[in-house]
Amino acid sequence: MQFTVAIDGPAAAGKGTISRAVAARFGFRHLDTGLLYRAVGAKGGDPVAAALGLTAEDLARADLRSMEAGQAASRVAVIPEVRAALVDFQRRFARSDGGAVLDGRDIGTVICPEAEVKLYITASAEVRAHRRWREVGGDAGQVLAALQERDARDMGRADAPLRVAADAVLIDTSALDVDAAVAEAIKVVAQRLG
Ligand code: CDP
Repeated sequence: MQFTVAIDGPAAAGKGTISRAVAARFGFRHLDTGLLYRAVGAKGGDPVAAALGLTAEDLARADLRSMEAGQAASRVAVIPEVRAALVDFQRRFARSDGGAVLDGRDIGTVICPEAEVKLYITASAEVRAHRRWREVGGDAGQVLAALQERDARDMGRADAPLRVAADAVLIDTSALDVDAAVAEAIKVVAQRLG
């Protein structure tokens, strides 16, 4: 069975938590596509070569969730050749047998426009920055500024910008706790599965 759940949205909106929960609930595989861009950014050197030669070791680095890796990811993510190098792997994963959940920025719009379910997860910048600050600590104002800078870059780039797919279901998690947000996403997937 091919069944793709595409989950997109801005930084720290809750995509990862929701994706993992949906995958666990339905027995689907999960790919955090942001990790691919984080690994390319963290590797340094020529980003196109890094994307073409990405290894399992690169993806296992312990520092990929840091704020710096997030900024580096969004800088390399504007390069069309970097994005192109990562397309096939993501598409194969999306259409692999047994169902797949992918979360990122362009899953429902570019990687898998034929996805059976598209969710756009969002929340106010303040709520998202607070969540990210709880994970990484540091100066709360700087966390908010960095997040807004990254969102602007992701939404403003020419190639595969972050935007809501026309057929996506929008879930605003600003006033939802984790359980409520997950329940909402699971409801949409269950309906589509019939
Ligand atoms: O976890 P968070 O939402 O903060 O970020 P992420 O999903 O790990 O993505 C890190 C960065 O990678 C994003 O800010 C984008 O610039 C880039 N990215 C992308 O361009 N396309 C994707 N499908 C996934 C991530």
